[in-house]
Amino acid sequence: MLTETSPSAALSLRGVYVEYAGTPALRGVDFDAPAGALTVVAGPNGAGKSTLLEVLAGTITPRAGIVSLRARSRAFVPQRAVISPALPLTVRDVVTVGAWGRVAAWRRLDRRSREAVDAALDRLDLTALEREPFGTLSGGQQQRTLLAQGLARRAQTLLLDEPTTALDADTATRIATAMRVEADRGVAVVCVSHDQGLIDAADVVVSLAAGRVSTAGA
Ligand SMILES: Nc1ncnc2c1ncn2[C@@H]1O[C@H](COP(=O)(O)OP(=O)(O)OP(=O)(O)O)[C@@H](O)[C@H]1O
Ligand SMILES: [Mg+2]
Repeated sequence: MLTETSPSAALSLRGVYVEYAGTPALRGVDFDAPAGALTVVAGPNGAGKSTLLEVLAGTITPRAGIVSLRARSRAFVPQRAVISPALPLTVRDVVTVGAWGRVAAWRRLDRRSREAVDAALDRLDLTALEREPFGTLSGGQQQRTLLAQGLARRAQTLLLDEPTTALDADTATRIATAMRVEADRGVAVVCVSHDQGLIDAADVVVSLAAGRVSTAGA
C-alpha cells in the first residue's frame, strides 16, 4: 500500500478519514492533484466529494491521515454561496475579494490585482454587470461571479465545488474552457462535477462512493 504522499503532486492525501458527529464521510482516501492538470471528482450525492474538497482547501482537518499541500496559494469556490443579499456589494466588489489574497486587504489594490479582477470579469462575461448589486443577480450570474472571484486570486491551486450546476450549456462550456486554460498554465485544478463537458475536459477523473475512491484514471 502507498503511504508516502506523491512528491510531484501539488495536493496529496493518504489514508484521510473524516467524520461528522461520529458518522464517517471519508474512509481512508488517497488522492493526488498534479500541477498543470484538471482533476475532476465525480460520484453520487453524499459520496464525500465536498468533504474531500474542504480537506484540500484546509477548511476541514481530518481525524486521521496525511494531508500534504505543497502549492503555496489556494483559491476555493464552495458549493453554496454564503454572501448575504442584504450586503451592498457589487459584482466587482465580490470579484475583488478574490484579489485580497494577493495584497493586504487594507491597502489599495495594485495594478496587477486590478488587472486580475478585470480579466476574471471578462473571462466569465461579467464586465457589463460589474456595477450591479450582487444580491439582485440570478443564481447562475451569482455562481459566475463567485467563479470569477476564484480566478481573480491567481492561485497555484483552484478548488471548485460543482461550478456549473446552475449554469446554461453555453456558460458551462465557457467554464470548462476556463478550467482547461488554468490547468494549461500550470495550476492544479480540482473540480467536483457531474458535468460531462468538464469530465471530457479532465486529465484525471476520480470517482468517490460512500467515502472511498472507487476509480481513478486518466
Ligand atoms: N456539516 C455536516 N454535518 C454533518 N454531516 C455532514 C456535514 N457535511 C456533510 N455531511 C455528511 O457527510 C456525507 C458526505 O457529504 P458531502 O457533502 O461531502 O457529499 P457530496 O458528495 O459533496 O454530496 P453532494 O453531491 O450532495 O454535494 C453525507 O452523508 C453528508 O450528509
Ligand atoms: Mg457536495
